[in-house]
Amino acid sequence: MPQISQKVDPSGKVPLTEDLSAVVRGIAERYGGQKRAVIQILQDLQERFRWLAPETLAAAARELGVPLAHVYSVATFYRSFSLEPRGQHICTVCMGTACHVRGGAAILEHFERKLGIRAGETSPGREYTLERVNCLGACALAPLAVVDGRYHGQMTETKANQILEILTGPSE
Ligand code: FES
Repeated sequence: MPQISQKVDPSGKVPLTEDLSAVVRGIAERYGGQKRAVIQILQDLQERFRWLAPETLAAAARELGVPLAHVYSVATFYRSFSLEPRGQHICTVCMGTACHVRGGAAILEHFERKLGIRAGETSPGREYTLERVNCLGACALAPLAVVDGRYHGQMTETKANQILEILTGPSE
């Protein structure tokens, strides 16, 4: 059996059909190939490719033997799934009430300026995706930003610069 790397592909590119089928099979095997594990399998596929491309969803349906419409309904129901290409780094700024009153909007604008994209967008080279969310359930940390899954509380513009410098290297 071919060795399938489970590492995240930094390009976010989806492989050709044959390879994609092998990736789906490899992931599905972890769940005993069970059709009811569609959510977990899609989660793993998204973790690997950072988004769920139409061909990824088609491969999941094909390999699991479930209707494509079912796979799409799961992928569109959960907000954690992205059907658009996402960047290598995901920056999320909380705009819930607690974060908003403590300057969340200014933090979001700062990320937008630094990354050169608006909330909801991915940079053209797919380095970054910037997202806004409503309450991450950690209001005591407001204002809160999450970068690549790591929570950064009491966010300031200086802290944001430091985090982005670590990811990109210092700007000139
Ligand atoms: S409002 Fe931001 S974590 Fe709750």
